[in-house]
Amino acid sequence: MAATKYTLASRVKLADGHTMPQIQLGLYMMTRSEARSAVTAALAEGYRGFDCAQMYHNEKEAGQALRESLESHGLTRADVFYTSKLAENRTSYDAVRASIRQSVAACGLGYIDLFLLHSPYGGPAARWASWRAVEDAIGEGEVKSGGVSNYGPQHVEELVNHPGLKVKPVVNQIESHPFNTRTDIRETCTKHGIVVEAYAPLVRGMRMRHPVVVQLAKKHGCTPAQLLVRWSLQHGMVPLPKSVKRARMAENADVNGFELSADDLAKLDALDEHLVTDWDPTDAE
Ligand SMILES: NC(=O)c1ccc[n+]([C@@H]2O[C@H](COP(=O)([O-])OP(=O)(O)OC[C@H]3O[C@@H](n4cnc5c(N)ncnc54)[C@H](OP(=O)(O)O)[C@@H]3O)[C@@H](O)[C@H]2O)c1
Repeated sequence: MAATKYTLASRVKLADGHTMPQIQLGLYMMTRSEARSAVTAALAEGYRGFDCAQMYHNEKEAGQALRESLESHGLTRADVFYTSKLAENRTSYDAVRASIRQSVAACGLGYIDLFLLHSPYGGPAARWASWRAVEDAIGEGEVKSGGVSNYGPQHVEELVNHPGLKVKPVVNQIESHPFNTRTDIRETCTKHGIVVEAYAPLVRGMRMRHPVVVQLAKKHGCTPAQLLVRWSLQHGMVPLPKSVKRARMAENADVNGFELSADDLAKLDALDEHLVTDWDPTDAE
């Protein structure tokens, strides 16, 4: 059987009817100038999805690079998918609405394709006020789709079961890779039709030499990074590999020509050590 193909042109359908690229470039830990050059290079490489955030302090440069490069690739705004995230949940609805407007203005793209609450921190009242602001930003056309990030199963349930909910979250962006699989969160999201984006899909480079990763990469004639990206994809997630290097951007998206068997996936799943590469807000109050 031929391997399932996942390319930079592949898109996944969200529960609200929009679609988004199946492999996207992460922009975390990029300086402003790195973000500008990485976005330009990634666009030339074929990337169409870009994962930014207020906390990354490079929204302006990412948006500028996109705007300046679209035309030379024969693309329009609608051909690219830009995400940003709210730095901090607030109980003040007005403060969050203003913050979303600032993100839209900073990128200069006219609207944001996907806006996420970056974490569940702040408690139930701040989470809810912030979500209402996302709903209204969608209603007013500033944002196309809304979602959350670092939400544990309990936060997802709290939001989708809220009696005042008008717009369901369509994405939960979480840390997920073989060393921290988070099947609990993924199952909850699947139950509610929420697409899971996998952050730190390359384990931030921390497990590239793990013997099982090396052995399976050798078996499939791929690199460890390609193996890890393929793991996310075959588990139905949207990986956001980050690189400032064009050759690595190409490598990370060149994941066809091999397919992980159920046995390979099980071997990788068994590596789970609950490794947290950055932060873990999923059990926040
Ligand atoms: N929502 C959240 O709380 C949250 C948290 C963390 C991350 N994220 C998102 O997820 C994205 C990805 O996560 P991440 O940036 O933390 O980690 P990652 O994508 O797992 O790993 C990035 C690291 O791997 C290196 N790398 C890239 N391609 C490689 C390759 N082919 N071979 C070897 N090393 C390679 C990069 O270095 P070079 O750049 O030098 O190539 C960088 O050091 C972020 O950029 C961000 O958009 C979200």
